[in-house]
Amino acid sequence: MIRLTGISKHYVAAGRAVPALEDVDLEIRAGEILGIIGSSGAGKSTLVRLINLLERPSGGEIFIGEERTTALTGRDLRNLRRRIGMVFQHFNLLNARTVAANVAFPLQLAGERDRKVIAARVAQLLERVGLADQADKYPRQLSGGQKQRVGIARALACSPRILLCDEATSALDPQTTRSVLDLLQELNRELGLTIVLITHEMDVIRQSCDRVAVIDGGRIVEEGPVSRVFLHPSHPATLRLVREAEHGGGGADTGQAHGRAGPLFRLTFLGETAHRPVLGRIAAETGIDYAILAGRVGHIRQTPYAQLTVALVGGNVAAAIGRLTTAGIEVERLGGQVPAGEALHAVA
Ligand SMILES: Nc1ncnc2c1ncn2[C@@H]1O[C@H](COP(=O)(O)OP(=O)(O)O)[C@@H](O)[C@H]1O
Ligand SMILES: [Mg+2]
Repeated sequence: MIRLTGISKHYVAAGRAVPALEDVDLEIRAGEILGIIGSSGAGKSTLVRLINLLERPSGGEIFIGEERTTALTGRDLRNLRRRIGMVFQHFNLLNARTVAANVAFPLQLAGERDRKVIAARVAQLLERVGLADQADKYPRQLSGGQKQRVGIARALACSPRILLCDEATSALDPQTTRSVLDLLQELNRELGLTIVLITHEMDVIRQSCDRVAVIDGGRIVEEGPVSRVFLHPSHPATLRLVREAEHGGGGADTGQAHGRAGPLFRLTFLGETAHRPVLGRIAAETGIDYAILAGRVGHIRQTPYAQLTVALVGGNVAAAIGRLTTAGIEVERLGGQVPAGEALHAVA
């Protein structure tokens, strides 16, 4: 639905070109929640600002549906921007206006004069984001999460088909982040809203996105379903972001730190297999011992996952792998081997 082809963006600062994006190709599907993740300065904000043409690309084209938006000017451009809502990290509310007046603002800008129409639409939006009783408050009287709900209501005022969120939860605590992400997912489902969610936090992606693109140094370095990118990161930038999400703990692994005996495997359980006691049963049946060297468990959106790095010791390893695979568990052989001593805390 949104397509960027060969997009580059260079800013000019102090007479010199600052490259921000290079040769970006990206497709955003209608009705999906696409995450764009990257560390600070990677080019994320530039990318979203290009989608609603707050910035012009230095090269390349952007299409929304069949429309080449990079060709639009004047009134057509203003109409396009109205069809794309945007939510910001620091909310960008007007402090001198009430909550209701903030949400009414884009309707007024769009030329709506009928106060009854505006009042009805504002009431409906505030109800939807759970702020019906806060209409007459001022932004300074609200919590961060409430401010962002106002930001979302305002972004939806003109019924856009696309919502761009630039670090929308980065100023919020984890619990508030969760509730704002839940709201965005509900809006995605109820309205068929296409959402582009920019973040530097892998946890935000894991909780809310269908697909993710990883941006590093102005380039998209990896892209795909969240389950694949999160559980099998292939680019160093992705690996770094996944590890940050796990607080630098021994969660993600490379399997390289180990020495001699016992082959290492990474087992990935996705969906209901994550809840089944398969590993112990198969170990018993095939006479292997296993030592768990690293593990992580959680949810990718609503889907449970578990990923374990194990050393398989003794018994019929080939048969065990065959049975694990048949049980729907993804088995990858890792490069390293565990030292014989570590097999001491093997479980069987
Ligand atoms: N208005 C601007 N003028 C000059 N350089 C900019 C401007 N905006 C962003 N940049 C530069 O472009 C690069 C990408 O920035 P940005 O898109 O804001 O990254 P992110 O949102 O991922 O932190 C950075 O090197 C940043 O310094
Ligand atoms: Mg940014």
